[in-house]
Amino acid sequence: MARYKVLVTRRIPQVGLDMLGEECDLDISPHDRPFSREELLSMVRGKDGAVTLLTDKVDGELLDAAAGARGFANFAVGFDNMDIAEATRRGIPLSNTPDVLTEATAEMAWALLFSVARRVVESDGVMRSGKWNGWAPLQFIGGDITGATLGIVGAGRIGAAMARKSTGFRMKVLYADARPNSALEAEIGARHVPLETLVRESDFVSVHVPLLPETRHLFSYDTFTQMKRTAYLVNTSRGPVLKEDDLVRALKEGLIAGAGLDVYEKEPLMADGLAALSNVVICPHTASATTTSRNGMAAKAAMNLLAMLRGERAPDCLNPEIYG
Ligand code: DGY
Repeated sequence: MARYKVLVTRRIPQVGLDMLGEECDLDISPHDRPFSREELLSMVRGKDGAVTLLTDKVDGELLDAAAGARGFANFAVGFDNMDIAEATRRGIPLSNTPDVLTEATAEMAWALLFSVARRVVESDGVMRSGKWNGWAPLQFIGGDITGATLGIVGAGRIGAAMARKSTGFRMKVLYADARPNSALEAEIGARHVPLETLVRESDFVSVHVPLLPETRHLFSYDTFTQMKRTAYLVNTSRGPVLKEDDLVRALKEGLIAGAGLDVYEKEPLMADGLAALSNVVICPHTASATTTSRNGMAAKAAMNLLAMLRGERAPDCLNPEIYG
């Protein structure tokens, strides 16, 4: 049986490569960086399919270059890098990797929440610098977590997992979402509120919406003016959901107490001034970076792509309407 020709745009965990290797000849990027656009367009030519990353734009131009390809499996749950409408128009399946990174991402949101509220990174810096001169009553005072109000923006899989983990801290949970999550309401008493209410009443706001035209810049300067001055913002979704320059301005002006960020508007760049602020904790888009999650993502991407190559329905297909 002829083997499929597959591009893997950056090395993924071995479990996925082993699965694909059973039926495919793999062209794996040799670089420890994303492909340039030119490299991507050239490498995808003649391939039957590809495992792509959130840094690869899968659009009409790429689908033209990959004419004849049977599908593209994103190694991510987010899929804002993929033009689903265009792929659907051409009958080409696309997939993502839901579920396997839900808990890891929610854990990272909690890590950021704790780190920024209790000033962990700032304190660590002082210890390492040798400047700590002993215990003091007014040192590194932070925000209280137990009993505080947690606002979840986007109560899908990851937002709901974040919310559920709050029960040990007896938090009041508000959530804003176009769709009510009645399971979450029943389970932990979360209250569905408009975004404006959530922003006004929350001590911690954690963002979990996908990047869509309607969520781009959902948080701007005006939003920050409505938050409590003692509130903290956490973002593990996609950078462009926040207007990052506005966030820097809000943090400098003390409109909010701090922010924990894993994602940025123009990755790998950060807004001017962000990294110089002491009231932010900044991580390099690593929310799903646990062994279990990344292996799960690799296995899912492989499973989806293999299904597409065989002409079967991909389990995590993003455009199932192509199957009729
Ligand atoms: C995703 O999966 O969308 C994350 O941003 C990377 O794990």
